[in-house]
Amino acid sequence: MERLRVGVLISGRGSNLQALIEACRDPDYPAEIVLVISNRAQAPGLARADAAGIPHAIVGHRERHAFAAQAEALLREHRVDFICLAGFMRILDAGFVQAWRDRMVNIHPSLLPAFQGLHAQRQALAAGVRFTGCTVHFVRAELDCGPIIGQAVVPVRPDDDEERLSARILEVEHRLYPLALRLIAEKRVTVTADRVDIEGWRSPEIAALNPVGPAAGRFARTSV
Ligand code: GAR
Repeated sequence: MERLRVGVLISGRGSNLQALIEACRDPDYPAEIVLVISNRAQAPGLARADAAGIPHAIVGHRERHAFAAQAEALLREHRVDFICLAGFMRILDAGFVQAWRDRMVNIHPSLLPAFQGLHAQRQALAAGVRFTGCTVHFVRAELDCGPIIGQAVVPVRPDDDEERLSARILEVEHRLYPLALRLIAEKRVTVTADRVDIEGWRSPEIAALNPVGPAAGRFARTSV
């Protein structure tokens, strides 16, 4: 099996990177991480790449265009086919986004298009919504926008604070991201007119990605 060669861009903790690393340990998983790039030298996620023996690099993002050029050279050198943004907290150069159109995804801790930008969990609490969650989507030039591949719902509890809610969302992020990447690597995900189709979306495993009907209850319960 030819595995999809993935590059992961991070800025910080790297827990989503870790979830992807764990998924890739399974020899049957159809993707492998071949490069990690951080825009911050102190990002704890770099140690996770190191521990997993994955080549990693630090590329400063003070200048958007320079970052794009350096990242592009590294991605080419490591023959990266596909990019996962995992807590990458900078706005990417528009040319870079265009060059990787439909070959770059992001995870965001809300049910997009609600609560884009920073502190999505804080925004959800302030809005008083009863459900929030996370989204994996293809990246477009606008912040936290683009065709949605999968979402997972997390109920907001009356006694939630930002930390508790973030932790419960993170738990489902760690399940959603590897699942979404697997579907992509299996070539079951297509984008038509900026909407995503998933081949085999009726299977229970995929119902958990877009919880509607009975699967919603099951998925939400496991995340509480
Ligand atoms: C995650 O919650 C991710 O969804 C969020 O940053 C966190 C990174 O955590 N991303 C965004 O808000 C992107 N707009 P991690 O470094 O432990 O994966």
